[in-house]
Amino acid sequence: MTAPPPGRAARTDGPRLAALFDPAVVLAMASTDETPFPDWALWIRTALPEEALPARQRTFAAGRLAAARAITAATGRTHWLDADSRGAPLWPPGVSGSISHTGEFAVCVVTRARDTGLGIDVEPIASAPGLHTARRHICTPAEFEEAAGAEDSLTAVLRVFCAKEALYKALPAPLQEGLGFLSVPLRRSGTRGAPDTVAFRPMGGAPALSQAVIRTAVVGTTMAAAATLPRLGALGTDTYPEDGEFG
Ligand SMILES: CC(C)(COP(=O)(O)OP(=O)(O)OC[C@H]1O[C@@H](n2cnc3c(N)ncnc32)[C@H](O)[C@@H]1OP(=O)(O)O)[C@@H](O)C(=O)NCCC(=O)NCCS
Repeated sequence: MTAPPPGRAARTDGPRLAALFDPAVVLAMASTDETPFPDWALWIRTALPEEALPARQRTFAAGRLAAARAITAATGRTHWLDADSRGAPLWPPGVSGSISHTGEFAVCVVTRARDTGLGIDVEPIASAPGLHTARRHICTPAEFEEAAGAEDSLTAVLRVFCAKEALYKALPAPLQEGLGFLSVPLRRSGTRGAPDTVAFRPMGGAPALSQAVIRTAVVGTTMAAAATLPRLGALGTDTYPEDGEFG
């Protein structure tokens, strides 16, 4: 399989995004105008429903390119991602990761740390007013009260939304089942680094979730969230396979 072409600068700050994670991750990006969807191999394109509109084809292609770059950088091997029937990425053995995209770029983080779930979410700051109208479906009353006391409520709701999207992506499939935005309340747990970096911890849900840390920050023109869920092996979910051969 052909190796992914080297990346160009995309419109956010990769190192700042990567710094939100702990332990260290490999991060790669791709622009949505880099590789036209029709140029992709058929087996990769079929992971996307046939009725997908051109805008979605572009974000999908950018996500695949960012993922290929990240996996190659982390493993030295070329690997193009497939997805499960729900659209969740199928990572190669010994690798876990996460993808997010906006209309302009896609970002992928991967790690070879054992038993670690990663989740990334980036949302344009411009989406804050729209999300604010849906705040009762995103934030519990306690989350909203806490967040709104700390900063403007548009940013606060966007931050909680992003944190919950990232947390969801970090979870193994069995723990995602049946979850909704109000089922895992989050609590602010301090700041780190830049003044606008805010961390959250889950306050409920499955016991394993108590290990999760989600860091959020305004990065470029986006709100970004980075979720790390360690010690997944203890869950016995068998979702993240050991090191092995992959093509
Ligand atoms: C799946 C979901 C997280 C995608 O997030 P989004 O903000 O709509 O879109 P993003 O661009 O950030 O991310 C899309 C990528 O997420 C990844 N993804 C899709 N389903 C996923 C899943 N079940 N698990 C992990 N990653 C998933 C894919 O890589 C996808 O990109 P691709 O299809 O091009 O490969 C979102 O649609 C969702 O279901 N959210 C529910 C969250 C929730 O309930 N949280 C509360 C409890 S923790």
